[in-house]
Amino acid sequence: MQLDHLGIAVENLDAALRAYGPLASGAASTPEVVGGQDVRVSFLPLGATHLEFLEPTKPDSPVGRFLARRGPGLHHVAFAVPNVDAALASIRERGGRLIDDRSRPGARGRRVGFAHPSAFLGSLVEFVEGP
Ligand code: CO
Repeated sequence: MQLDHLGIAVENLDAALRAYGPLASGAASTPEVVGGQDVRVSFLPLGATHLEFLEPTKPDSPVGRFLARRGPGLHHVAFAVPNVDAALASIRERGGRLIDDRSRPGARGRRVGFAHPSAFLGSLVEFVEGP
């Protein structure tokens, strides 16, 4: 399995891109709002992987509540898989808790699904469809 990106929760997307931009191997993606999640994201290429910065568009949202509880920092680890629903099913089959029962549309037009942090010893794990 391939690491697709690391998701980092931030208060301010522009400030994050200024801070991390010099480390990147290319330009950041145009910020996009992910439907239903009340979050604005941008991806910064870093060699074979990416950093995803997540800025909540309102405090009462998954990333807004994460920031209030834990402050800015690492939010999730994302793996690229050929089929997100199959990846979620394999977690469910071995007794792992899921956040998403099935895949849904995510950033960059790719399908995504999240396992519950308890399935991976405290880290939130995202599966992203495609290479
Ligand atoms: Co992500």
